[in-house]
Amino acid sequence: MYTSSVLALASFAIPSLAAYQPVWNYNASNFWDNFNFIDSADIFTRGFAQYVGIDEALSSGLAKINNGKVRLGVDSKNTYSATSSGRKSIRLQSWGNFDNGLLVADFAHVPVQGCGMWPAFWVYQGERPITPGAYSEIDILENVNVHTANTHSFYTAEKCTIDIQKGNLVPEKSTNCHWESNGPSSQGCSFNAEDGTFNQPFNDQYKVIALQVESERMRIWHFKKNEVPADLNSANPNPDAWTKTPTVHITPKSCDFHKAFQRFHIIINITFCGSWAGDDFNNTNYAGQCAKRTATNDCKSWVGNHPSDFANTYFEFNSIKLFQRA
Ligand SMILES: *[C@@H]1O[C@H](CO)[C@@H](O)[C@H](O)[C@H]1NC(C)=O
Ligand SMILES: *[C@@H]1O[C@H](CO)[C@@H](O)[C@H](O)[C@H]1NC(C)=O
Ligand SMILES: *[C@@H]1O[C@H](CO)[C@@H](O)[C@H](O)[C@H]1NC(C)=O
Repeated sequence: MYTSSVLALASFAIPSLAAYQPVWNYNASNFWDNFNFIDSADIFTRGFAQYVGIDEALSSGLAKINNGKVRLGVDSKNTYSATSSGRKSIRLQSWGNFDNGLLVADFAHVPVQGCGMWPAFWVYQGERPITPGAYSEIDILENVNVHTANTHSFYTAEKCTIDIQKGNLVPEKSTNCHWESNGPSSQGCSFNAEDGTFNQPFNDQYKVIALQVESERMRIWHFKKNEVPADLNSANPNPDAWTKTPTVHITPKSCDFHKAFQRFHIIINITFCGSWAGDDFNNTNYAGQCAKRTATNDCKSWVGNHPSDFANTYFEFNSIKLFQRA
């Protein structure tokens, strides 16, 4: 009697998870106020990029508002010597951070072409040295060179094993998302997205990428232009009602997602060469496409000497929105 009335009360009090509510809407009206332009060489990934501060980014046009869209690109006019710190580019980090929620990026354009390019749109906390509880990363849009499928990596600073409900795990990766659990070349949980989700094929077909981070699961969706759920234009989107199958859907196994994934800043950066794009330039695993196209193995010289190749190496955002459960 007592038990059943408690149960009745509990199920009355908690009918379902709270609805998502709008928290951030970053767009042409407020973008520069919400991001910090990091002014430094790319010391992070041995990349061939010199990130510029906001004043230079705006005066040189690397960052600008274009027809109500936020455009973030790289220098496509000047040449750079291979011994310089690299092609001028941007690296933005949101001032705000979040733990849980639904992050929705509406792209008018993602970076294309350019052998040597390595663009990324991702969320992360923590610089090196990596310490438990102070490092989390999820790569939302990332790949290099002429690849045409997006990849998603999840990294934590502590052991974090997952169950895969949906997703195409990169074969050499594991289901423990610890950043170095399996040696330097196989850390993190990385997934290959469907072909067409990176580079020009994305621009031809796709528009929106959504990331849901919650204690009970994480999901990532890619929406084509004609697939964007109508409720994403409302104040209360409901991912559970979406019919599109996510690219990745993972649930916790040995891991407390809420502890392992938190205090995310949004980062938008475009680098060149470095540890991924540079090594991939002539990588036989990808048929050495860039070495073939450019007739060289020297990524830095190619990137330094071919400014006009990077005229379309830019992000253009309609908006980046964050929703959280009330
Ligand atoms: C841009 O963001 C602002 C602030 O969040 C919001 O008031 C405005 O409606 C947004 N503009 C568009 C076109 O969605
Ligand atoms: C962007 O910067 C971060 C360091 O904050 C680095 O780890 C990452 O690899 C860089 N990625 C690109 C594509 O520039
Ligand atoms: C690609 O070429 C560069 C320069 O010759 C070399 O340093 C690098 O090891 C090569 N990488 C691969 C994967 O072959």
